[in-house]
Amino acid sequence: MYFIANWKMYGDLKSLKSLDKVIKFANYHKRKKIMIIYCPPYTLLHSFQNKIKKTKIFLGAQNCHAELSDGPFTGSISPKMLKRIGSKYVIIGHSENRFEGETDLQINKKIKSCIKCGLNVIFCIGETHSQKKKKITSQILKNQITTGLKKIKFSNKIIIAYEPVWSIGTGLIPKLYELDKNVNFIKKVLKKNLKIKNPKVLYGGSVNPKNVKNLRSIAGIDGFLVGGASQKANNFIDIVKKTII
Ligand code: 13P
Repeated sequence: MYFIANWKMYGDLKSLKSLDKVIKFANYHKRKKIMIIYCPPYTLLHSFQNKIKKTKIFLGAQNCHAELSDGPFTGSISPKMLKRIGSKYVIIGHSENRFEGETDLQINKKIKSCIKCGLNVIFCIGETHSQKKKKITSQILKNQITTGLKKIKFSNKIIIAYEPVWSIGTGLIPKLYELDKNVNFIKKVLKKNLKIKNPKVLYGGSVNPKNVKNLRSIAGIDGFLVGGASQKANNFIDIVKKTII
């Protein structure tokens, strides 16, 4: 099971302290099959890496430029830079970036560069509220998957994070039967259209220690991408505990 903390645009050097408890917890449970990955803002990647390098926790970034290597791109960070700093993962296609104008084509280019560079990709997909109301969720998900992963030799380096946009930061989660249906649909598309043998699909959107047991009951879910609740160590640990114990 994957537990990925997406800190979004939050956190400073002081917040690194919250890692102590999580490191201890991860060490204690090192024999369990859990993968804890922290994706702090760029400004904290270096400090995070120093803190977690000899632990069971992995480092990830929240986005990157589509260009593989260095170049004249003011304000951007390349996949190679992330790799050099110790990142093993990178979130691509988050709805908060799609909302800022990131297109499927850019997402596709970013994923290609990240894979080339040896990074693992957490590829976010999900429908908006109005798409859900129009009952076109399946169509949207299929489109996002096939355009985002076009001409990419899919490997176990890509993990899908299903994050319904209407669920992010709202406290709302999908009805369990809907979530089950969507997760199975995503896996079916990955298996049938992209010939992936054992795809991994995570859920993200308002995951917290209270609702995680219910969410966990969906057999197809391979972990969680957690926003707000990942910023407090106790909440994040609780989410892991309630899933695995
Ligand atoms: P919240 O858990 O705050 O709803 O955020 C989810 C998310 O966007 C993770 O990438």
